[in-house]
Parts: sequence; C-alpha cells; structure tokens
Amino acid sequence: MTEFHLNTRLRQTLPRGRVTATRPAGCPTIALHLFDPAVLEGPLSQDEARAVQVAPAYWSFCWASGQVLAQYLLDNPGLVKGKRVIDVGCGSGIVAIAAAIAGAREAVACDLDPDALTATAANAALNGVEVSLCPNWQQRPGHFDIVTAADVLYDRDNLPLVEDFARAAPSVLLADSRMRDFTHPAYQLLATHEARTWPDLHEFEEFNTVRIFGSGEAAGEAGFAGTSQENQLQQPLDRQYR
Ligand SMILES: C[S@@+](CC[C@H](N)C(=O)[O-])C[C@H]1O[C@@H](n2cnc3c(N)ncnc32)[C@H](O)[C@@H]1O
Repeated sequence: MTEFHLNTRLRQTLPRGRVTATRPAGCPTIALHLFDPAVLEGPLSQDEARAVQVAPAYWSFCWASGQVLAQYLLDNPGLVKGKRVIDVGCGSGIVAIAAAIAGAREAVACDLDPDALTATAANAALNGVEVSLCPNWQQRPGHFDIVTAADVLYDRDNLPLVEDFARAAPSVLLADSRMRDFTHPAYQLLATHEARTWPDLHEFEEFNTVRIFGSGEAAGEAGFAGTSQENQLQQPLDRQYR
C-alpha cells in the first residue's frame, strides 16, 4: 500500500488532499501517512467543507488520544508485551502500531472504515511492524488479552462498547478527549496528558486534554476496591450517564 493509494482515497472527500509521512508530536517514535496541511493554500470551499463533514477521513489525522495512548504503551511495554491486543477505532493505526513495537504477540487494528484499515496497513509497513486488520469489533478474531480504544466516544452510540470491552477482555485501556465527565465503575483514571490532533485542527482547548482510563488488570488492584468486575458492571451504562 502506497501514498498513491491513500491519496486516491483521501481525494474522494477532498480533491486537493494529499498525505505525507510525518511524526505526531505526541508520539514521535511512530511515522504516519497523514493529511498534508501544505496543500491548503486557503480555507476550504463550501463544497469541500461539506464533503469533509459528510465523510470525514478520520484516518488522515492522528487524534490527541491516539498519540497519548500510543506513547503510554511505548512507555509501559509490560501492558502489552507477549499479549494479543485489539485497538478499536484504529484510524491511522497509531495505537496498534505502538502495541506491535512494544512487543505484543499480535496487534489487531479494528475500524468500521475500510480506508482506516488501508491506512493502518500502510502505516504499519512504514514502521516495519505487522498489524492484523479487523473490520468490526463484533467480528473480532478470538480472545484478546487487552482492548485499547482512543477517541471513539465522540460518537455517543459507542458508549455501550465501554462496557462490552470490559466484559470481553481482562484488561482495557481507553483514552478520551471528548467526554469531560466520563465515569464508569469498571474504569479508573490512570493518567492525564496534553496533546493536539496532528496535523493540528485548532480545536477547542478542552479537546487537547486526554484522559487514560484502565479497566481490569490494566488498572491494577486498586481499581476495584475489593468488588468483582462482574458486580461493578451490573448497572446498565445508559443509566449511569443520565
Ligand atoms: C476520531 S478517530 C480516532 C482514530 C485513532 N484512534 C486516533 O486516536 O488517532 C475515530 C475512529 O474510530 C472509528 N470508529 C468509530 N466508531 C467505531 C466502532 N464502533 N467500531 C470501530 N471503529 C469505529 C472511526 O471510523 C474512526 O476511524
């Protein structure tokens, strides 16, 4: 998979779009083919802005949470070393690539957007690692030791996944910059970091604060205060967010 293929896909939504290999400031170890802001000599036309809104090429940006979670895995390789890891909502693939670099037995990148999987394959090759691809969490291949997900809660329809992840795997790491008030009894706040979408979308400052939440083994003993994970998950998630 080459830049040519990614450019072809990007131009479905942004005819003057182009990707370029770059290293996000929040996780500079990893190189990614991302949107090249140099092509934008002026603001987007109305048609371009509409096309981007209708079918955003999320994979052509590296989101703040992806950078922070990828760096977290590189700094704490024991979380994934020797394990089967699945990253849900992989976008550019940065978190799955970080898991592979950190020594995961298998790193699987999952995204509903086929172009994200194409970009992930290209980015894995760019970094010299192997990442397997999966088009849908519901169709994941087998059992995983750890689930990761970065910036997928912008879509509130994904909230039930949080609970699903905790039931499906002994360990979950969730990074989010979109839900300021996220709490769930199975998840514990592990770290807070600042990062910006790369290339920078000049979003609201509040979207530059990333929180990492852990569930199960990733959260350590303290996360459950003596209560079983099963018990903590008994209250339906939608009730907890009201
Ligand atoms: C904001 S982007 C974040 C990408 C990447 N995790 C990062 O941090 O750079 C969200 C990605 O999640 C994908 N996505 C959203 N809901 C999903 C779901 N239920 N299952 C799989 N992928 C999903 C989107 O297609 C998109 O690629």
